[in-house]
Amino acid sequence: MARRRQIYEGKAKVLFEGPEPGTLVQYFKDDATAFNNKKKGTITGKGVLNNRISEYLMIKLGEIGIPTHFVRRLNMREQLVREVEIIPLEVVVRNISAGSLAQRFGLSEGTPLPRSIVEYYFKSDALGDPMVAEEHITAFGWATTQDIDELMSMSLRVNDFLTGLFLGVGIRLVDFKLEFGRLYNGDDMQIVLADEISPDNCRLWDLKTGEKMDKDRFRRDLGNVEDAYQEVARRLGILPEGGPRDLKGPETMQ
Ligand SMILES: Nc1ncnc2c1ncn2[C@@H]1O[C@H](COP(=O)(O)OP(=O)(O)OP(=O)(O)O)[C@@H](O)[C@H]1O
Ligand SMILES: [Mg+2]
Repeated sequence: MARRRQIYEGKAKVLFEGPEPGTLVQYFKDDATAFNNKKKGTITGKGVLNNRISEYLMIKLGEIGIPTHFVRRLNMREQLVREVEIIPLEVVVRNISAGSLAQRFGLSEGTPLPRSIVEYYFKSDALGDPMVAEEHITAFGWATTQDIDELMSMSLRVNDFLTGLFLGVGIRLVDFKLEFGRLYNGDDMQIVLADEISPDNCRLWDLKTGEKMDKDRFRRDLGNVEDAYQEVARRLGILPEGGPRDLKGPETMQ
């Protein structure tokens, strides 16, 4: 097979040039990082699971009319996506207090919020992804007021849909992070959901026991990280054929 050009290597994924112009291949690694790269590790099989989970959720969101970058899954660790111009924002939607929100406002973790809260962070590892307001976003030209309205309404639709989907499998969607990008078609520009949706960027708590089923298990050294990711996939009905053993099956990266 011809060598593909590597475009970018991030903390959790590698991007390769896709087979057609305007496409990319996302390769999902087992690498895990937390606290702005200060903590590093590996979660065996994570890449395979996140590739599947993100595929599943992006397809479901596509079905309810949310435009996404997802084209198709290629193999165990890779998916084909449309190449977009990433908007340099992390859009965080929160339903229950946890993580930095709990800290910042002195709330105990697990307090339901009066309503869903949408927050924006500037994507910059060097600066530690600082939280920003609409004022910064428009003043620095990262997005227009109109774009922000669109990001907000898409994020809330994603939240409503995913909250219901996860509740259906006994999981509480506490919060999550989204990334969006711009797709150009002549003079037209469309904002689409990009990156990934997986237990790496969602907080997922078991509805009955409250047990964490996401990257907080890694951040906080709670153990059984792989099992938790696998359980999310299992509940969504997407564990690879052959079960967990298949996580070590064939995959492509050159
Ligand atoms: N469809 C897309 N087109 C172009 N870039 C994309 C697309 N989807 C995701 N990306 C970008 O690809 C990278 C994915 O790699 P990864 O998640 O490992 O990055 P990261 O280490 O989290 O770094 P970053 O701070 O850049 O997000 C991210 O920078 C993400 O913004
Ligand atoms: Mg990332």
